[in-house]
Amino acid sequence: MATSIDKFQEQGGRLKTDDLDFDLFRAQPLDPSVLRCLSYMHDIEYQTVLYAREMLMLPQWKDPQFTAFITLWNYEEYWHGQALGRVLQAHDWPAHDERLTEMRRFNKRYLFWSPAIFWLLGHGVRKFPAVHMTWGAINEWTANAAYNRLARIADHPVLTELLGRIMRQEGRHAAYYASHARDLLEPDRTAQKVTKWFLQHEWAPVGNGDVPKIETSFATAYLFGSGEGLELIDRVEDRIDALPGLAGLNLVRSAIQQSVRHVVAEEGFVPAVPARADERRDDRDNDSDNDSDSDSDEAVTAGR
Ligand SMILES: [Fe+2]
Ligand SMILES: [Fe+2]
Repeated sequence: MATSIDKFQEQGGRLKTDDLDFDLFRAQPLDPSVLRCLSYMHDIEYQTVLYAREMLMLPQWKDPQFTAFITLWNYEEYWHGQALGRVLQAHDWPAHDERLTEMRRFNKRYLFWSPAIFWLLGHGVRKFPAVHMTWGAINEWTANAAYNRLARIADHPVLTELLGRIMRQEGRHAAYYASHARDLLEPDRTAQKVTKWFLQHEWAPVGNGDVPKIETSFATAYLFGSGEGLELIDRVEDRIDALPGLAGLNLVRSAIQQSVRHVVAEEGFVPAVPARADERRDDRDNDSDNDSDSDSDEAVTAGR
């Protein structure tokens, strides 16, 4: 059964960061490849308000449960962006409005039209709620996997704590989206077919088109192109396969292969992740065997 907004709002809210020592990044800085991925995640988190602007063009604006979810989700994602911006700032990397102003210029033609596009999709495609709920679940699962992988690659005490807190909220977002997607897809073959069509023809990793394509490709290839990243994505694919009518799409794996090819073509190679990120895998596998993988959408965070 779909998660109610009462249950969703029991937890969450503004991300707690006041007890984190962001100055430690000055003494123990992160690797530039990790910072590049964090810049991308920062952009995507802050972009949520513009995704919310699109969602509110759908006919579901009439449903107070839907608008409550969009409000809370958007608020939580804002604070994810804000926290990641503080990590970037501690490295004297661009963050916050400096990056966002540029992003909105970069993509201004799409951003001008996107509310109209979503109005048309929402009013012209009868089963569109199933599409956007499924789409949201996939993006939350992949974001969660990205933070999981980043924390392990970086192996930094403050970043691990921060990303762990973000992941707990992403897990709630994923659970909400997936439960609604399941309820809409299960009884409705047409909704399954329409959703499958949109995913096969339109889906790309979150952020594609919002930031330069190479930045999406870099984060996708660096985080998921090797080692444990591939295993995390196997689990995301399993979750997509388990949604009614959506087995065997292989969406994220295909996107990773394309991203690796794109980065190699543009930049010559995908930087290797530190060997320790995969060496620690055995211990975590033992931990994750104890996780309940069947009843929680948060379990994609393997071992947390
Ligand atoms: Fe987020
Ligand atoms: Fe999220």
